[in-house]
Order: sequence, then C-alpha cells, then structure tokens
Amino acid sequence: MKEKFLEISNVSKTFPGVKALDKVRFDICPGEVHALVGENGAGKSTLIKILSGVQPPDDGAKIVIEGQETVLHDPMDAIKKGISVIYQDFSLFTNLTVAENIGINEIIEKNQKILHWQEVNAKAEKALNFLKSDINPRTIVGNLSVAKQQMVAIATAVAQEAKMIIMDEPTSALSKKEVERLYEIIEDLKAQNIAIMFVGHKMEELFHVADRFTIFRDGQYVDTVNAKEVTESDLVAMMVGRKIEGKSYANLEEKGEEVLTVKGLSKKGNFKDINFTVRKGEVLGVTGLVGAGRSETAQAIFGLTSIDSGQVFIEGKEVHIKSPADALKMGIAYVPESRQTQGLVLPKTIRENILLPQLDKYANKLGILNNKEMEDATNKWIDMLDVRPNNPDLTAMSLSGGNQQKVVLAKWISTQAKVLIVDEPTNGVDIGAKDEIHKILRNLAKEGMAVIVISSELPEILTISDRIMVMRRGRVSGFLDNKDLTQEMIMKLSVA
Ligand SMILES: Nc1ncnc2c1ncn2[C@@H]1O[C@H](COP(=O)(O)OP(=O)(O)OP(=O)(O)O)[C@@H](O)[C@H]1O
Ligand SMILES: [Mg+2]
Repeated sequence: MKEKFLEISNVSKTFPGVKALDKVRFDICPGEVHALVGENGAGKSTLIKILSGVQPPDDGAKIVIEGQETVLHDPMDAIKKGISVIYQDFSLFTNLTVAENIGINEIIEKNQKILHWQEVNAKAEKALNFLKSDINPRTIVGNLSVAKQQMVAIATAVAQEAKMIIMDEPTSALSKKEVERLYEIIEDLKAQNIAIMFVGHKMEELFHVADRFTIFRDGQYVDTVNAKEVTESDLVAMMVGRKIEGKSYANLEEKGEEVLTVKGLSKKGNFKDINFTVRKGEVLGVTGLVGAGRSETAQAIFGLTSIDSGQVFIEGKEVHIKSPADALKMGIAYVPESRQTQGLVLPKTIRENILLPQLDKYANKLGILNNKEMEDATNKWIDMLDVRPNNPDLTAMSLSGGNQQKVVLAKWISTQAKVLIVDEPTNGVDIGAKDEIHKILRNLAKEGMAVIVISSELPEILTISDRIMVMRRGRVSGFLDNKDLTQEMIMKLSVA
C-alpha cells in the first residue's frame, strides 16, 4: 500500500438541527482517484468544505496530511498544505484574465505590492501547457465557455502545486465531449501523482474514473471499496439502502387529445423546421448531443426567446407566446436546466420558492394569501419529492445541491400546467431521488399532463419516455417509439 497523502477520521459537522457529518473517515493516496458517493444531503460537499479550510469540523476530528496531524485553518492554509478544490461554480473572478486568476492566490499571499506580471503569465502558461490547453492567458475569464472556465480552475490548482485536487460534481455543466477531455486531464494529473477526490452522481462517470469509492449515507460513513470489486447495483444499494428497479415506464397505449403542437418552428442558428405533437398522458423524451438545439427549442416555446417562423398550438388553437408569462397563462411550464442561475431565489425559503410562480392562486379577491392552503400545498410537494430536510421554512441556500434541484422541480410542477417541459430534470440528483422524480413525472402524465423531458442521459430517456424525439444540429432527426430500443439506436440518430 502506498503512503497516504491524506487520512481523516472522527470528522463530524453539526449545523443547527442537522448533523451533516457524523464521525466519518476518508483517505487518499497520491495518484489515486477516490470517489466520494452518497445521496443528496449525505454530507459530501460538507466534507469538501472542511478539507478546503472553508469550514471547521466539530471538535475531535483527526486530519493527517503526509503522516502529520494537522489543522486546516482557512482556504489559503489548505492550499499551502496541498489541497485545492474545483468548486461547482469554479469560484473564479470572471472580470479578471486567465493569468490573473491563476496567479491571484500567490499575489494575495505574498502581499505583493509590485506585481511580477511576467512571472504570473509564465506560471499560467506553464499550467495551461501541462493541461494541453490552448486558452490564451490574457483572455477575460467571463468570456470563456463553461468547460474552459473549469480548465482555468484546474490550471489554478496545478499552478498552486496541489497534491490533491477535489472536484465537486465537475461534469454537471459539460457536454459529452468535454467530459471525455476531463477524463484525459484526470489521467494526466494521476500520472503526476496528484490525488483526486471526485464527487458525482452519474454511475457511468464514477466507474470510469474511480479507483476506490467511499460511501456516505445521511452523514454516516458506510464503507470504502475498490472500484473493480463492486458492481453498480452494489454501490447503489450501499448509497440508498435499498434496491432501485431499473425498469422502463414506457406505455404505448393510445394517448389522449393533442395538447401541444409545434409546426415549422425555426430560429436562425438555433433550430430549423421543428414539428411535433405531444398528447394528454404522454411523455415525450427529447434527446441529442449538446448543441443539438433541444433547450433552445424549449426556451422558444416558453417565450424566453423569439422565433423567426413557425406556429405553436395549444389544444388545437394557435397561440402567440411572447413571454414566459404568456406561456404560463396558456398552460405551459418550463423547468430550466441550471438550478443555481435560473431556478431558485437562494435567500428565500423553500416554501416561498415553490409558491413563487403561483402566488395569485392562493390570494383571495383582496389579495390576502391563504396561509393554510399554501402550507398544505408546499408540504405536499416537499413530501412528494422527498426534499431533505423536510422543512419548508429553511432557505434554499442551506440545502444540498440535489435538494435544491428538487425544489426547482416542485416549484414548476406545482403550477399544474397542461404541458410541462423539464430540461435535464435529474442533473445533480442522486439515484434514489432520480427514481422518485421519474415516477412523479409519469404520474403527472397519467393524471393528464403532456410531459416533455429533455435529457442527454440515454438511460433516463429510455426509462421515462413513451416516444423519443432525437435532435441533431438544430433539426429533428427522427422519432422512435420506446419499444425494444437500445441506446445505440438513439445514438445513431444523434450523430451526423
Ligand atoms: N450552511 C448550512 N446550514 C444548515 N444546514 C446545512 C448547511 N450546509 C449543509 N447543510 C445540511 O447538511 C447536510 C449535508 O449537505 P451537503 O451539501 O454536504 O450534501 P451533499 O452530499 O453534498 O449533497 P448533494 O449531492 O445534494 O450535493 C444537508 O442536510 C444540508 O441541508
Ligand atoms: Mg453537494
């Protein structure tokens, strides 16, 4: 066994009313990818905050780095001791250049009054070269794509001479191709003996990158296992404490009347000549590679962007949707993909977030809100989606990432639209909750909604859809009935 880079034990963290971590342990060797897995709220991000010096653990924690017991006082201290984190939002200064971002810690730390720009630039270039990246160090970070911003964050860690890099759900905003690129970078980092702690929810990715898994459940340590010695369903069972059946909900029975019909929808540079119909009781899966125009089409139907030409019909009547407010009035709800930026008002409570789009429904003629009804409504939704902790008065900010996603879903599902469009509904959601969300969407369809699920995850598309619309480069490349389908058959229609 190699000497460990890091070894922690007896690590606990208590928040008012929540024990986020309860005497957990974890260790990692140089050159190893050790994935930390567990359901939403299991305590993964909390441990990351402790290891990066952002939050102190409760008393009694033991943290050993390279054989020496230590305390991580603050983020700069953790960096100095070799631990760097790539946060989900990357925590970059978007108004500064790439080089400035990569060099900033050093600048702050040395309290340099005179900036040695040549040095900073050289350092940035070296780190970017190591990552085989063609990003110009003089570019303003805010102008880069999400994948490139992530590259800058990784380059920053490399420039800090990190011995351990923590990645918290690093693939959630990446396309398939960018994920492949990240895999290569992880290989390069491993080859340099850098340890990588990887947090994520997608089984395929976890099994691709991880050498070992450590499983947490509700803040408790469950086990640590070698990736080669465990199957996906074993791992899931350890995370969730129960078996998840991977069956498909497809139902090819005759559906009800047409709810939404789209004819010849086009927008230059985004999508062209889109035609489809969704019926009452139907779940239409929409898939394709990133950039195929799926979200753009949905956003146009919801009135977030304009179209160049084409028609939209609700229950056979043509409608002209100019804004999301129009769309809601016509009975169309759209759950966006990015929970942080488009979905939630973080400082507001769970209840307020859920009720936001429909406050007028709960107000009487005088505009006075009916509290009892509001309370019943939110309680119903947080129960149904299993939001944890089960307390509508907590702020959205205090929730784990996956539980925030559940609140976004509750917010839109509860508007009781005729057409519900959900964009990557289970991104960042754990496997147990994912199954719940699939069941809920199926139930909504059964109760008479027309549901459109946009997803890049083919297993999800095969689980949830009755019919599948595949898009490629802004056009519909085919429709498939979800019967005896394989992922390969869908992929064929997705790629040119
Ligand atoms: N600042 C805080 N105040 C109160 N509770 C918190 C705070 N931060 C986290 N928690 C709670 O601690 C628990 C663990 O949350 P954490 O974010 O670590 O989960 P996670 O495993 O990262 O989940 P996810 O997969 O959803 O990101 C949750 O119950 C969460 O609500
Ligand atoms: Mg998290």
